[in-house]
Amino acid sequence: MTMHCVSFQRCVAVVTVVMATLVVVVSLGSAGGADDVASAAARERPSAEIVLLFTSDTGGALSGCGCAGGPAGGLTRLSAAVAAWRRGGRPSVLVHAGNLLARQNENDGSTDRDVLRAVRLFGFDAVNLGPYELRRPASRVAAWNSAGDLPAASADVRPARTGGTGSADEAALFWPAVVTVQRGGVRVAIVGLSGGRPPDGGGYTIGNMAEAARAAVARVRESAHLVVVLYGSDWHQASELAANVPGLDVIVCGGSGKLLLEPKRVERTLIVQAGPNGDRLGVLILRRADDGSLWAAEQRLLTLTDRVPDDPRITEIVFEREGASGSEGQMRGRQGKREGEHRTDSLLRASSSQCGACHEGQFKNWSESPHGRSLESLAALEPANREPCYFCHAADPADRLKGLIGELQPPQPTPVGCQDCHAVDISHGQRRKKPPAARPTKEVCLSCHTYVDSPGFDFAAYRRRIAHPSAMPAGTKGEATPPVTVPVGPGTRPSR
Ligand code: HEC
Ligand code: HEC
Ligand code: HEC
Ligand code: HEC
Repeated sequence: MTMHCVSFQRCVAVVTVVMATLVVVVSLGSAGGADDVASAAARERPSAEIVLLFTSDTGGALSGCGCAGGPAGGLTRLSAAVAAWRRGGRPSVLVHAGNLLARQNENDGSTDRDVLRAVRLFGFDAVNLGPYELRRPASRVAAWNSAGDLPAASADVRPARTGGTGSADEAALFWPAVVTVQRGGVRVAIVGLSGGRPPDGGGYTIGNMAEAARAAVARVRESAHLVVVLYGSDWHQASELAANVPGLDVIVCGGSGKLLLEPKRVERTLIVQAGPNGDRLGVLILRRADDGSLWAAEQRLLTLTDRVPDDPRITEIVFEREGASGSEGQMRGRQGKREGEHRTDSLLRASSSQCGACHEGQFKNWSESPHGRSLESLAALEPANREPCYFCHAADPADRLKGLIGELQPPQPTPVGCQDCHAVDISHGQRRKKPPAARPTKEVCLSCHTYVDSPGFDFAAYRRRIAHPSAMPAGTKGEATPPVTVPVGPGTRPSR
């Protein structure tokens, strides 16, 4: 049984007919073809919407380094961000456009095992071999594949015909050109294209990219609702590919070149990119258009700032690793640094209204500000789909960590509040002492006002727009008012 999917619409029509047939077959008591994969696929009516989660160039980094030009998030935060999107329950596919294990300068491959372990915890549906990975020895690349569970796709990388050694390593380089997954009844074919050039004598060769793509498309176009290419390099070159190879729905590019803030359309192909260093998780929500073509209804780039919690399972791997290498000092240093990054993590939690008990003016002003109303902007979304927005549109994402990764329900979100900007707890009020380091710096704002989400951000101008009245609570100017005891309510947790 073949499905013709020139368009999404037609696929749905074909599937509907197949479904009707199946009902007849089943009602006649003959379930002979029930284990036929195609009919199983046909029984599930393709969802009208599918989410493509994408990133690239994570470069073997387990956790963010917090340094300029280094990965913002690493796999620890990527995992938490992916978990937040998956929580919404929409059908989704997670792909990596290349350079999962290697970056430009480095590395001896000593992190490969740990990276593969971490990746196993949250699972990619397809991973492409990127240009930096091609610079590594073939034996190392082959080992990634033979580790077994990396769903690698590579249509253009092949063992060298001449100059190769004919070893088992080479055979392992025969990664499948295409990985196919089915989510919510939508069949997604994912083709890998390296976009790189191996060094001489590297043990493998790169075929002609456009030819490899055409051959792969010819094989899968009929049966797939959606054809996605993972392309390890620049989106400029991907545009040429889109113009020359018909039948591609989406090309996910590697992180080089200027960041594509919006998807770019070339002919019928959408080109997307999540930027360098694995700094972002890209999210492309594809919806069926009325004319049957797929259309990107929405794209969001989720920057993995310190608002996105670390997945403790992967942090554990980092610590084990650093412990094993005997550098306890380094380990402690990192631990301290990570805590410092989550600057409000160690605070005794208070709700904005608890602060407002003394800072009435600021509270009133804040309640009417965009921050006090930051949950209202999400009202149009299904509640389950709001989870990834809460990283910036709600207070204290760290408290929701357990809920995102584990079985627990994350606590009810509250809008961006006092402690998201002021790293102070409530004790100064009880002591009636001015808290130290109370004024937020620009960096505090930038953890949410990234250039992706807030391209017009200007610290001075934005600060003026959220200015609160400066009137201090009564009793601070030497007046003898009794100290106020503020109840420590739910949502408060002890500092670590
Ligand atoms: C990395 C932080 C971050 C994340 C994640 C985030 N936002 Fe925002 N969002 C912001 C900031 C900052 C602004 C204010 C931008 C400005 O005006 O400068 C904003 C503004 C908005 C606005 C109002 C302004 C507009 O663009 O119309 C909407 C609506 C919105 N976000 C929706 C969402 C939704 C929906 C999600 C989740 C799918 C989300 N945001 C995730 C930071 C974020
Ligand atoms: C019990 C009353 C009380 C509570 C509750 C309280 N504060 Fe204060 N806060 C004060 C007083 C009093 C001062 C001024 C101390 C001074 O100037 O000597 C102050 C000062 C501040 C300042 C410094 C202002 C400056 O000029 O630098 C900030 C910021 C602040 N509070 C934020 C908060 C936040 C955030 C919360 C909630 C976590 C909170 N406060 C809860 C009483 C309170
Ligand atoms: C915890 C995340 C977070 C932090 C930290 C944060 N903001 Fe925001 N900010 C938001 C979000 C989300 C919005 C959009 C609210 C909405 O409309 O839904 C926003 C909106 C704004 C707006 C209104 C923009 C518009 O176009 O309407 C201003 C101004 C602003 N923020 C200033 C600041 C300043 C200044 C700082 C630092 C002192 C700061 N913000 C820190 C999340 C944050
Ligand atoms: C989006 C970030 C943000 C949020 C949320 C926020 N503040 Fe502020 N707050 C600031 C900034 C920035 C200043 C410094 C204003 C300046 O210097 O221009 C400030 C100043 C203050 C001050 C000192 C006022 C003064 O005289 O300068 C107090 C007190 C205060 N905030 C309390 C609160 C309380 C209480 C809340 C919650 C109800 C709150 N803030 C929420 C950013 C924020």
